[in-house]
Amino acid sequence: MNPLDFAISVARDAGALLREKLTEPRTIAEKRPHDLVTDADSASERLIVARIRAAFPNASILGEEGGDYAGDANERWIVDPLDGTTNYAHGYPMFCVSIAYERAGIVEAGAIYAPVLDACFAAARGGGATLDGVPIRVSRLARVGESLVCTGFMPAAYERNGRYFAAVSRIAQGVRRDGSAALDLAMVAAGRFDAFWERDLKPWDVAAGTLIIAEAGGRVTAMDGTPLDLRAGSILATNGLVHAEMQSLLAAAD
Ligand code: IPD
Ligand code: CA
Ligand code: CA
Repeated sequence: MNPLDFAISVARDAGALLREKLTEPRTIAEKRPHDLVTDADSASERLIVARIRAAFPNASILGEEGGDYAGDANERWIVDPLDGTTNYAHGYPMFCVSIAYERAGIVEAGAIYAPVLDACFAAARGGGATLDGVPIRVSRLARVGESLVCTGFMPAAYERNGRYFAAVSRIAQGVRRDGSAALDLAMVAAGRFDAFWERDLKPWDVAAGTLIIAEAGGRVTAMDGTPLDLRAGSILATNGLVHAEMQSLLAAAD
């Protein structure tokens, strides 16, 4: 199976597992203050890792919950088995599974599945982006003043992000903090958000989403406009048209 079809199929199956478990009693642990992990995160990652190991036995795996595998350095799956764990733990439906396939350090395919919305966002490099198989494009709004923007932040970073939040809120039609970075990125790709920024993200939060946005015609950089580095964590993702304005608003609030 090609990596795109495989990513979609596994993200859907892991998402179905998360949906089934949503109403069950939950085991919740705190990895660090405000950083939760539940039994559902682990069960989802186990399912995904087992499927990857069976279909791509040589590939490396980078999974948030420790399901790493050191295989071929040129072929790697990057997995967030449950993005939006805090939302999940409270039964808030904005959460997803994010799976990306990287070859020689370049993300080639990715899928983000939000099981309660039953929405699967996906892309392969050069093949365009889709939502449930239908092509998607970023929005065409040209000013932050007419935009719906989203952000995210770890609670420890609220002061700095609060400055960005205030600066963008003064201009945008609305600013949201929805709690699932991968799904926030998918919403930019589908033209529902016009821009998204966050500091301190991890590769598994952004690997699939950045490809899906690029394939939907959007632009992704670090917050200061420099090229995105999956490991660096800072991200500004937009429809392209509001990128420069967002960048200068964030820089002025820094
Ligand atoms: C978190 C979510 C959240 C973002 C955090 C991430 P997790 O991922 O994407 O929106 O603000 O930075 O760590 O822990 O739910 O997989
Ligand atoms: Ca995450
Ligand atoms: Ca996670």
